[in-house]
Amino acid sequence: MRRKVIAGNWKMNKLPNEAIEFMDSLAKLVKDTNNEVIICAPYTDLFYVLLQAQGTNIKVGAQNMHFEDNGAYTGEVSGEMLKAIGVEYVIIGHSERRQYFNETDETVNKKIKAAFKHELKPIVCVGETLEQREEGLANDIIRNQTKLALEGLSKEEVKGTIIAYEPIWAIGTGKTATSEDANNSIKEIRNEIESIYGKDVADEVIIQYGGSVKSKNAKELFETSDIDGGLVGGASLDPEEFSKIVNYDK
Ligand code: PGA
Repeated sequence: MRRKVIAGNWKMNKLPNEAIEFMDSLAKLVKDTNNEVIICAPYTDLFYVLLQAQGTNIKVGAQNMHFEDNGAYTGEVSGEMLKAIGVEYVIIGHSERRQYFNETDETVNKKIKAAFKHELKPIVCVGETLEQREEGLANDIIRNQTKLALEGLSKEEVKGTIIAYEPIWAIGTGKTATSEDANNSIKEIRNEIESIYGKDVADEVIIQYGGSVKSKNAKELFETSDIDGGLVGGASLDPEEFSKIVNYDK
């Protein structure tokens, strides 16, 4: 049985004092869950979030990293740096990074490899635009993004990768894919992984849904056959709301 993994993606939100307050509240609200809880915070909050997470069941992730370990890359942060402060997860290839910061399938693949080099667990985002969906290309797009992201990884590494299926038209829009559509897309991703890495890998890999996940729709989404939790943006900013998503099965 795959576990459920629920990750909050704060994006470019929260000052350190707000992050500390949030963690204090969330720790109490999710202490009894059996689901995995991750908070992906901006770089400037990570240290505080890590301190607050000590002794709790909350894991900590970053939202991006560079694929090189160090060097003349002004403004960038490497996987080695994240590992050194105790970060465990890193989001790679979020659609906002693909859209606004020239992230490509190639850089996504390099970053995933660099993440594994530093024993960070990648949360890799794939998803189609509305246009692609309307043209009937959604399945091809997500299968191809998945294939290119994972290219050259070992079976063990693929098993240790979390994939987040995030249809771009559902992010921050209040539009959620129906649980049936989201589950079908996730099955496509799982089939792609099976065709390359085999059934044992496909059965184990965690695939989340992301895009306007809220406490109101979490249960319906997460109880489907193939959705293994969620990557939550807007609704992860409030500890009460986020805890209801984590505790969807209580
Ligand atoms: P949203 O964002 O929950 O605000 O739609 C999800 C994401 O971008 O990871």
